[in-house]
Amino acid sequence: MSEDLWRDSVRNLDPYIPGQAAMEAEQQSKIKEVIRLATNENPHGPSQKAITSMQNAVLESHYYPDLTCLALRNKLGKLHGMDPENYVIANGADNIINLVIASYVNQGEEVVYCTPTFSEYNKNTLLVGGIPVEIPTTLDHKFDLEAILDAINETTKLVIICNPNNPTGTIVDEKELRTFLSRLPKHVIVVLDEAYGEFIAIPNYSTGVEYIQEGYPVITIRTFSKLFGLAGMRVGYAMAKGELIRPLQMVREPFACNRVAEAGAIASLEDVEYTEKVLAENRTEMVKMIKEFRSLGFSVEETHTNFLFIDMKQDTSKLAQKLCQKGLIIRPCAAWGFPTFARISIGSEVNNQKLIKALQEISSQTPNHV
Ligand SMILES: Cc1ncc(COP(=O)(O)O)c(C=O)c1O
Repeated sequence: MSEDLWRDSVRNLDPYIPGQAAMEAEQQSKIKEVIRLATNENPHGPSQKAITSMQNAVLESHYYPDLTCLALRNKLGKLHGMDPENYVIANGADNIINLVIASYVNQGEEVVYCTPTFSEYNKNTLLVGGIPVEIPTTLDHKFDLEAILDAINETTKLVIICNPNNPTGTIVDEKELRTFLSRLPKHVIVVLDEAYGEFIAIPNYSTGVEYIQEGYPVITIRTFSKLFGLAGMRVGYAMAKGELIRPLQMVREPFACNRVAEAGAIASLEDVEYTEKVLAENRTEMVKMIKEFRSLGFSVEETHTNFLFIDMKQDTSKLAQKLCQKGLIIRPCAAWGFPTFARISIGSEVNNQKLIKALQEISSQTPNHV
């Protein structure tokens, strides 16, 4: 069968270049369990309360899940002080990005965001016949809100701000974002992808919830894959008010979140003690890893996430191969146009030390290149 039969918008997609999958790396390196520092997972796993709750939910697997995840929406409503109708739960934040773009973007309409950023904005926009408008981030790797404003025209439908941004770990200045929101033309909706929002440690930093409450046309995206350690369960959600959230409810497939995942998400929200421990550990390891990376001669700044964006001053695709042979996977950033950078997740203390040791060994074998 010929590719000519594919939908035009599918044929024109660039093939997705994922980070190296753990299984593939295990086969390549012949190491039984590789250390995964490429996909920003929680190295400590889900909370024990979430595990117990998911185990109980498995026993009811013969029942369909609740259609719209009312129990989880109630829980989130209480957490953020918003009505349960203001939420849509789906199969991970990836699925929420599909829903937002499928709900809003007509053929020929523009979706504006900065790059490097999460690749799903581009793919989903192209898929519905929209036009991705990609603007470089600033020299310090932040979303350039002024340049985004300049790029907005009458065909712009969405502006997507990944905050904190993947892969750079940066956030937008709150004052700048507020000014930006107040200057937007009425036909433009802002999507704040806060997949890593829970990691922001600046006191009183406003998140999407505040902007929604203040009446700005904002849709906020969150996930249980990162802080809550439920990446394998696939739960994400969108928050927005009234008419903004309604089309997502209409486009969403029924049962887009399974009952085990919903049970895990609810219990995770209840286990605040555990998430605080994960956040504290992430912060401690971040500070330690920055020091270690700098002592190896790399450039790296603080992050507002659970990963670091590091200029390793060499071809990181090759370095990633060498690390893979030693059973460690990191994410080289050549696909984003940053061939000397890598995005490395902040792992557990033990695994972080294994990474540093492996880098030191590689460095001693090739002195000019770590
Ligand atoms: C910025 C951003 N948004 C969304 C997602 C998707 O998350 P999920 O696992 O919930 O699909 C990711 C995953 O890495 C991400 O980095």
